[in-house]
Amino acid sequence: MIFKKFKKHLTITWTRLNQKNTLSSIAMHENETLKRVVEAFSNTKNFSFTREDKQAFERCESIRSQLLQDETVVSYDIFGSDKRALVKDICKIAASSKKECQFLYALTKVERKTVVLEMGTNVGISGCYILEGIKNESESELVTMEGLPQLCKIAEKQFSGITSSSKFDIKQGLFGTTFPAVLRGAKEFNLLFIDGNHQKEPTIDYFMSLKNRISSPAILVFDDINWSIGMKEAWEVIKKDPDVNYVLDFYRQGIVIIDRKETAKNVEFKLHLSY
Ligand SMILES: C[S@@+](CC[C@H](N)C(=O)[O-])C[C@H]1O[C@@H](n2cnc3c(N)ncnc32)[C@H](O)[C@@H]1O
Repeated sequence: MIFKKFKKHLTITWTRLNQKNTLSSIAMHENETLKRVVEAFSNTKNFSFTREDKQAFERCESIRSQLLQDETVVSYDIFGSDKRALVKDICKIAASSKKECQFLYALTKVERKTVVLEMGTNVGISGCYILEGIKNESESELVTMEGLPQLCKIAEKQFSGITSSSKFDIKQGLFGTTFPAVLRGAKEFNLLFIDGNHQKEPTIDYFMSLKNRISSPAILVFDDINWSIGMKEAWEVIKKDPDVNYVLDFYRQGIVIIDRKETAKNVEFKLHLSY
C-alpha cells in the first residue's frame, strides 16, 4: 500500500517536473483538437477563465455544497444490492473534483457544437458543469446515463435550474440496457465522459462500441484509469487502439483524441492537472 502510494506520487512528481518540456513537445503537433484540449488543460491548471466562467463554477459549487448536506437515503436495489447510502456521502465519494469539472467545462468550448455523452450521472455535479458550458450553444446537448433512479431525479432537479430540459436527456437504467439504446440513436457525440462501471471488460467494450459511432474529431475522457489493475489494463488497451491518434494521461483521467483526418497514431503525453 505504502509502495503503491509512493509510486503514484513519484509518477506525478516526474510528470509535473517535465510538464514544460511536454507542453513544448505537444506544441510541435499541428492537430487542432489536440491544441484546443491542451489549451483547456492550461486554462484549467492556471485558472485562466472569464468572469462568466467563474460565476458558472460558483453556481455549480453551491449545488455541490447543498448536496454535501443532503441526508436522503439512496437505495442500490437496481444493482441487486441491499446497500443504502446518503446523498451527501455519494456526492463526497463519487463526484468529480472541482478542477476535473472545470476541465470538462473547458472541453465543452473546444468545438462550437458539443454533443456530450456522459456515462455515470451520479448526483449531477459534472453534468452541471457540462451544462453550464453548453447552455448558450443552440446545437449543443448532454446525454447522461445513470442506474440509480433517485440520483437521476436529483440530477434532473439541478440540471433544470441551469437550463431548459431540451438541452439534456438523463437515461435512467443499467448501462446494459441503456447503452445499446444510446448507440442505436442517431446522435454524433464529440465529447464523451466515461465515468461509470469502472471495470476492465465493460470499459473496453464501451470504448470499442463507441469508437466507430462517434463524430470526428472526438474527445473521450476516461475517469479513474489508475483506480484498479483492471482499469489500468483497460487503459492500456484503449490508448494503444489503432483508431486513437493522441493520448493525454493525467494520472487519474485519461483522454484520447480520435480524429480520422490525422495520420499520427497513439502519440502519448503525460500531464498533471491537480492533486
Ligand atoms: C463516479 S460516479 C459518476 C460521477 C459523475 N460523473 C460526476 O463526476 O459528478 C459513477 C456513477 O455511475 C453509475 N453506474 C455505475 N455502473 C453503472 C451501470 N452498470 N449502469 C448504470 N449506472 C451505473 C453509479 O450509480 C454512479 O452514480
